[in-house]
Amino acid sequence: MLKGNTVDLELVEREDLQVIRDWDNDVDFVGEYEPCSQSTLSALQKQFDEKGESDWWFVRRKDGTSVGYVAHWKAAGGIGIGYMLVPEERSKGLGSEAIQILVDHIFLHKDVVRVQAETHPDNPASQRVLEKAGFQKEGIRRKAFFSRGVHRDTALWSLLRDEWRAPGAARRVRPGRRKWVTSITIGVGLAAVALAVVCATRGRVEGE
Ligand SMILES: CC(C)(COP(=O)(O)OP(=O)(O)OC[C@H]1O[C@@H](n2cnc3c(N)ncnc32)[C@H](O)[C@@H]1OP(=O)(O)O)[C@@H](O)C(=O)NCCC(=O)NCCS
Repeated sequence: MLKGNTVDLELVEREDLQVIRDWDNDVDFVGEYEPCSQSTLSALQKQFDEKGESDWWFVRRKDGTSVGYVAHWKAAGGIGIGYMLVPEERSKGLGSEAIQILVDHIFLHKDVVRVQAETHPDNPASQRVLEKAGFQKEGIRRKAFFSRGVHRDTALWSLLRDEWRAPGAARRVRPGRRKWVTSITIGVGLAAVALAVVCATRGRVEGE
């Protein structure tokens, strides 16, 4: 299990696939921008059995409730990622944390230089979670995707190992800033004490 502050990631087992099948076949779960290709459990089991180096992870709240899943797979030049949360758990920060945990896991445990994701250019939450994890937009693939009766553009995003901000760094941006402020405050405080000691010593010497 990969542990975060609010959510953990736990590998999907073959016997869990019914949950994924039900989610994937639900148009509300799939959302506005992804294709909802209805699949059978046996088709999903076959995909699972042949998934090779891919992994699917449940996003679980600390009480064990599954709120969605993330996945990674081998892509040209690196690893591709995908992510989906149940509608009622969106926009609560869980997707951002789940993606950052997944990216940390990939760069810590897989010898790759590149993680990539594709998203619809008008999907604000999806683009923002990538931005927050440090991804950069590389460009648009025109009419590369078909969903809900529309041929759609997709945006390709990537994060290179050199740009990755070390484990959990994206999650620690604010505490990190606080740490700097604390260090500066302590530094200024120590300098003031040192100055006071010097002045007091001088005062004593001059007074003698
Ligand atoms: C994409 C998804 C995984 C993001 O996870 P999430 O938990 O909803 O996102 P977060 O709550 O972590 O929010 C991430 C950022 O997006 C912003 N955001 C979230 N929903 C938004 C919306 N509807 N409009 C604009 N911005 C939004 C948040 O404000 C946040 O930015 P901030 O931290 O700067 O304020 C989730 O929304 C989802 O499953 N969507 C449907 C499926 C999907 O589109 N998957 C991606 C396929 S490429």
